[in-house]
Amino acid sequence: MADESTLHPSHKRSCMCRPLNIPRTKPTNEVYSIMKDFNVTDDDLKKYMKLLMADLHKGLAKATHAKSIVKCYPTYIQDLPSGQEVGRYLALDLGGTNFRVIMVDLQKNHFEMTSRTFVIPNEKMLGSGKDLFDHVAACLHLFIMEQKLNDECLPLGFTYSFPLIQKAIDRGIIERWTKGFKCDDIIGEDVVKVLQEALVRKGINKNVIVKAVINDTAGTLIACAWKSPYCKVGLIVGTGTNACYVEKQQNAEMFDGANHGSGLVLINCEWGAFGDDGCLNYLRKPEDIDIDKASINPGKQLHEKMISGMYMGELVRLLILKCVKGGAIFGGKSSSELNQKDKFLTKYVSDIESEKLGTYDKSKAILESLGLKNITETDFQNVRYICECVSRRAAFMCSAGLATLIKKTEEKRVTVGIDGSVYRYHPHFHNLMMEKMKQLVTPGVVFDLMLSEDGSGRGAALTAASAS
Ligand code: GLC
Repeated sequence: MADESTLHPSHKRSCMCRPLNIPRTKPTNEVYSIMKDFNVTDDDLKKYMKLLMADLHKGLAKATHAKSIVKCYPTYIQDLPSGQEVGRYLALDLGGTNFRVIMVDLQKNHFEMTSRTFVIPNEKMLGSGKDLFDHVAACLHLFIMEQKLNDECLPLGFTYSFPLIQKAIDRGIIERWTKGFKCDDIIGEDVVKVLQEALVRKGINKNVIVKAVINDTAGTLIACAWKSPYCKVGLIVGTGTNACYVEKQQNAEMFDGANHGSGLVLINCEWGAFGDDGCLNYLRKPEDIDIDKASINPGKQLHEKMISGMYMGELVRLLILKCVKGGAIFGGKSSSELNQKDKFLTKYVSDIESEKLGTYDKSKAILESLGLKNITETDFQNVRYICECVSRRAAFMCSAGLATLIKKTEEKRVTVGIDGSVYRYHPHFHNLMMEKMKQLVTPGVVFDLMLSEDGSGRGAALTAASAS
């Protein structure tokens, strides 16, 4: 069992043997029938598991990899940390609208971290690769100055959370961008080289040596493996969603590194793309199709668009509007704010669902901030029910995905290390996953879900430590 201190807060309160208390709101009949086909059944999830398992095999095998949708990239990480790593390391965490620079001081079975978060302006997310990485280098430079590290030379682990065709632990080719980033001029380039060139331009290449590049899922798995030897799967449910797991090298046909002894390699599934060949169309609803059409990468990351934080609030907004149009909510009247794309934040879903059933203070504040007036108690209940439907579907799909990966590891006991804003802040996501996974994981296999304490950054530092 995982160390209690690292378990998800809602996990600590719960007993794994009795059903967890997950509140459910009662909607009106009209809203219930509009939302009805948004519920996924266990049969849907079993079908999903078969499809995902088939896709994992396609991604792993040489003969089918090129055409595969779930890419299953080998990461060149073969060993999980021992807890004995020591020293001072830097980490960069690039993967969402915020970007972090971290300094980690690893001592035996103990660590200290200092970090600073920087915003990435939208124009840099959509501009040239050079501009994006110059911004990254400028933030790193600022951090080095602030922490008075200018006379030092520290190894750096780079958490780069986008599809990357890895060629070595410190080399990876940018395959494409996801989650609102689009710096397409550097697709096909080695991301470590691109970073190093920016460090040279900023004059800090003597302070930093890039030792490893890793995906955030891998960083999370490694950070949790530092505490639990059973950690074999990593999951992110944040701006995007993705998972990684420990695979036998003999099954990872695209892995061309030398075996360092463990015979294992971490696989970055890139499961956000699952369904891009249409195999999840049986689960996709008109709102999923609308979200995809309005995105900067239509036709891509369809699984991610049904689950992750970048899209969850928008899904709820579209569904509320559908109910408004049918006259089932707000007396059939919307507001100009509610009519605008992305105005219903994913954070609102967590806020609304964290209220005690029957109380609506937060809901009232949120809906009024969206310009809605004369909201009735029934409206509050209906909005909450819509949020519940969307977050449940996401949690259940993640559960089915994890049950598939746990099966693929062939282990009898697996801890899943998890990070990401949706998992971390949604009040019931963890419990929903526990419940559903109990039904889907192969009987006899023991699992638990561990919240990563700042997963990816520390994981990158640990990987830099192993690589040094
Ligand atoms: C997107 C990225 C993936 C990352 C995930 C979570 O799916 O493509 O690399 O792990 O988001 O951040």
